[in-house]
Parts: sequence; C-alpha cells; structure tokens
Amino acid sequence: MQVLIMAQGIPEEIIDEIRQRTDLVGLAGEYFKLERRGKNMVGLCPFHNEKTPSFTVSSDKQLFHCFGCGASGNAFSLIMKLENMDFPEAARFLAARAGIRIPEEKKLKTAADNFKEKIYKLNMLALKYYAHQLHNSKNGNKAHDYLLKRGIVHDSIELFKLGYAPAEWTGFFNFAKSKGVSPELIVKAGLASPGRDNSYYDRFRDRIIFPIFSISGNVAGFGGRTLTDHEKSGPKYLNSPQTLVFDKGNMLYGLNFAREEIRRQKKAVVVEGYTDVLSAYQVGIRNVVASLGTALTENQSRHLRHQAETVITAYDSDTAGAAATWRGLAILQSTGCLVQVAELPEGDDPDSYILREGAEAFTSLVDNAKPLMKYRLEKLKESFNLASDKGRISYLDELMPFLLAAVNQVEQDYYLKKAAEELNVDEEALRSELKKRRRSSASYRFKENVQQAEQKEIEIKPEEKILISLMLQSKEIADKGRNLLELDFFQDQRVKAVVSEIWESLDKGELVSAEKIINRFSDQQLSSLVSSIATDPALQDLPDQIAKRMAGDCVKRIYQAWAGKKQLVLQKRIRALEAQGNEKELELLLKELQQLLINKKSVSTRLEEGGDFNG
Ligand code: GTP
Ligand code: MN
Repeated sequence: MQVLIMAQGIPEEIIDEIRQRTDLVGLAGEYFKLERRGKNMVGLCPFHNEKTPSFTVSSDKQLFHCFGCGASGNAFSLIMKLENMDFPEAARFLAARAGIRIPEEKKLKTAADNFKEKIYKLNMLALKYYAHQLHNSKNGNKAHDYLLKRGIVHDSIELFKLGYAPAEWTGFFNFAKSKGVSPELIVKAGLASPGRDNSYYDRFRDRIIFPIFSISGNVAGFGGRTLTDHEKSGPKYLNSPQTLVFDKGNMLYGLNFAREEIRRQKKAVVVEGYTDVLSAYQVGIRNVVASLGTALTENQSRHLRHQAETVITAYDSDTAGAAATWRGLAILQSTGCLVQVAELPEGDDPDSYILREGAEAFTSLVDNAKPLMKYRLEKLKESFNLASDKGRISYLDELMPFLLAAVNQVEQDYYLKKAAEELNVDEEALRSELKKRRRSSASYRFKENVQQAEQKEIEIKPEEKILISLMLQSKEIADKGRNLLELDFFQDQRVKAVVSEIWESLDKGELVSAEKIINRFSDQQLSSLVSSIATDPALQDLPDQIAKRMAGDCVKRIYQAWAGKKQLVLQKRIRALEAQGNEKELELLLKELQQLLINKKSVSTRLEEGGDFNG
C-alpha cells in the first residue's frame, strides 16, 4: 500500500535519494564549525546569538536541534532556514550538491487531483481572458482608466494580473467552450452558472477582476469589483463561490506575493480589501495580505502563524469595532500570534490613507500599532460609562473573555492590573472574578481559547496521536479521516495544526511524510510533536487491516468526544436561556442540538456499517 508521495513535482524516490546521499553533519559543517561531543556534533547556533554551543547535530538520526532557541529539523529544513528557500528549492539545491538529476514531473495522480488541476488550468485560462479584455477591448479601456484613476499603477496591474470581465452574459463561457472546455467544468470552477433551457451565463460581468492566488501561485478564484458604486450594478465585490480549489475562509489575498517579506520581517499586516493590498504593495510595503472582508478564521490565522510571529491588523475604522472582528482577533491570538492593531483615522482604509498620506505615514501607523489587549481596554473604556454600575458591569463582561484568552500569564496579570485601576477596584477581587468565570465561562468560543493556553501541560489524547501517525503512513486513511472528521473535532490545538497540514497536502495530491511535515512548521512544539509521534515504535509498520481498524476506532472516539462535549455545552446554554426566557436564541440552539444528535448517530452508524476503514 506504499503510496507515492510528491513534493511539489519532485518524486518521493528522488527526495529519498537526496536524503540518503546527504550527510547532515557534512552539510552543516559547510556553514559553521562543529565539534564532536559524545555521539553528537555541537556548534554555535546559526539561528540565534549565543556564546556557548547548543546547536546539536545527530549523525545517526540525521536531525538537528538547538537547545537554546529550539530550532530543529533535517537537512532540508536546515537549507530552507539558512538559504531562505522553500522545500522544492532546498531539494533542488541538495540534489545539485549530491549530483542527483531531478527528472521531469511525473504524473501519478488520482481523478480528484486531476479535477482540481483542471479547475486551476481553467482559472488560468480565465485569468488570461480577463487580462486580454482589460488591455484590448473598448470597455476594457474604461476599466483600465478606472484603475489608473484610483492610483493603481501599471506595474501593479501586471503583477497582480488584474483583468476585466466584459458586460456580456456569455463572454467567457463562449470563449472557454470554443477552447473545448466542458460547461460542467466551467460551472464547477464557479465561472458560470446554469440558466434556463440548457443555457449558461457568466458569473463575472462588467467587473474589474482580481485573481486570487494560492500560496504556491495557482489561480484559486477571483474577486470582481463593479466599476461604479451604483446599487443597480449589484454587490460592490463578487467573489468566486466555494469550489474544489477555493475556500474563502482558508485564503488570504496576496499571501503568495507577500510570503517572502513576511518571513523576512516575521511580521504580517492584515488588511480587508484587494485595493488595500495593491496600494501598500506598490509603495513598497510588501508584507501585506487581505482577509477579503471577512473576520479572520482559524485556518487563515494558522497560515499567518506559519509565516509570522507578529500580525498587525489595519482595518477600516468602521469594521474595527465589530463583534466579528473582535472574535477574529481572539482567534488569531489563540493560534499563537502576537496580535497588534493599527488604527486608521475615521473613514479611511489603508488604500485611501496611503494615497492621501503616503507610504511613510502608513508605515508609521503600523509601527505604532497597539497590542490587542491594550487596544481592547481602551475601546471598552470609550464604550462604557465607568462611573455607573451598569457601565462597569458591561465593561467587565466584555473584558473577561479577552483576559481569559491572554497570550500568557504575564500578559493576563498586566492587563488585569490595568483594568483594576480603571475600575478602581481591588486587584484580588478582579482576579477571583476571573477565576470564577474561567470555571463557568459563558462564552465557549473563548473558553476554547483558554483551554488552548492551558493545554501545554495536558497530554494529547492517544486517539488523536495514533490517528496522526496512521494518516502520515497511509493516504487512504488520511483521505477517509478527512471525509469523516472536521478539524474542530480534534481537542488539541497542536493536533489541529498538524492534521490541517496533512489534509492540505492531500489537496495537492501528495501525502506528506513525517520528515517532510516537519519542514512546514516554524513552531518547534509542532515539529517535535510530529517527530515524537512518527518515531513511536508501537505505531510503525502495522499490517494494513489492523491500521485501518485502529483508524476507524480513533475516528469514532474523536468524534464522540467532541460531540459529547458540544452536547454538554449546548444543553447548559439552553438551560440558561430558558431561565432568561430568550426565545430567539433558544430556538437556534435547540436546532443546533437536534442536528448534533442526528449527526452523532449517523457517524457511529456509518463507521459500524463497514464504513470503517476497511469498507
Ligand atoms: P474599494 O471600494 O474598491 O476601495 O474596495 P474596499 O477594499 O475599500 O472595499 P470595502 O472596504 O467595502 O470591503 C473590503 C473587502 O470586503 C473587499 O475587498 C471585498 O473583499 C469585501 N467586500 C466588500 N463588499 C463586498 C460585497 O458586496 N460582497 C462580497 N462578497 N465581498 C465584499
Ligand atoms: Mn477602499
């Protein structure tokens, strides 16, 4: 059942060959001095400043670890870090060094992968069509003028591959059909919709087109803006619908362009819109991505965390205070990013601000961004009248979830002190209130975040560990696991991050190996979690049947644990709402509970009816 794994076009056999022909000690020795200490070699760490050597290379395991800063990995990760390369680049680099030739890309993919590839290809065709229309049609000229008038320069139009969708019902549809593309594929790519009588019509009409790229540079989807702000032109922005390759909550616009600079600075700026990214980029601020108008999701936060330590949001002043925005910021913080908030003047977005005040002014806004917690405290103080009891209670209610989600104890203490001063109450009283709320936290969204913080000392459940190990060893199990589970079902944040990487790799038609996945985490905790799971002898080389049975069992336990917890939370909230007589929300929660109970049953049945992994 050995599955061939692809590293973005480089066959796994070649990766293996590179691995075998590269000696980590020799490689590291080309960059810095190493001395023998027992079985290992040690030297001064290239990734942080130190006076005594704590950078350790194991020749047996072909892994390195720095006991000072926690950097760790294999030959590939060493080169990626030292040479600032991505994995394929590092592989090519090491291949050349070892005298290994990398053959042309071999095609060994499943039907689903092929379908995804077809969508990517069609999207590329659409990109070219829209770009052609922008540059070569009469109405395209109008669109071009509009862009220039908005201060978007020619270079940006080229780099971001902007386009124009003509004001026709079947402009792109007919073009694609004439190239032999099936209507079914055009619809699946979200570029047209079926109309009456076997007809089809284009999704994007008379709009400026912003192609949205995946991190690796594929065209995943599009955003289209009207040329006027008249209401009759429909919504100002229209995005691709969800497709096999486009999931809005999982994308960040501009990440493909910004990634390198984000890594270099270890800092990302998140804005709301396409035009904000373009404006920033063209004045030289290149660590900017857009969340596309939605509040940040867990997936987006994780993408950011993989590239950056600090994430600074620069949102339009009117969305900055929205409840969804706050929630997004808390999610971002809970993935381990240091979150800061840059404040724009009333009525501005980064685009308008940069156009009016210039790059330096914007940079200085970003440099002076406030820590999330500090900002939260300030906003709360503005929103409530702290002289009245009612105001003070509301202030506390809003503040507590944020204190509970604090990055660490030090931060929590610091802002607890501040809040106590603000309210002119005893610090200890506030602390015991916080403890009380931690136990009976009203908002389970935030409670989850607290659990994450506390999770560091908590053991990961065996079923979660085992399933990771099994998924890393078999694509079939990984695929099935993904079909049956959602990321949220896993209890441990570290596990979620690893599983999300495994599943993401499935989208690319490869199953990531343990050694490879280590390369993808900048977080030391995650890579050591993977290496410990992957090297656990009890889970190696299991016969196929047994592996599958174990996987089925793990899936069931993971789902049941999640559903059980969720059920308790819902029931508790329902009781509280019943007591309050809050009918509207009560109805929603009852529905949610019903659905949960139905699902709980059906997952168990599916697994029992040979829907287990041998089915
Ligand atoms: P300009 O008005 O062109 O400067 O765009 P903007 O980026 O300033 O727009 P705005 O602040 O209104 O919205 C920010 C982002 O939210 C946009 O870039 C879109 O991604 C998204 N957005 C805005 N309006 C809509 C809409 O009507 N529908 C959808 N789906 N998304 C929208
Ligand atoms: Mn704008």
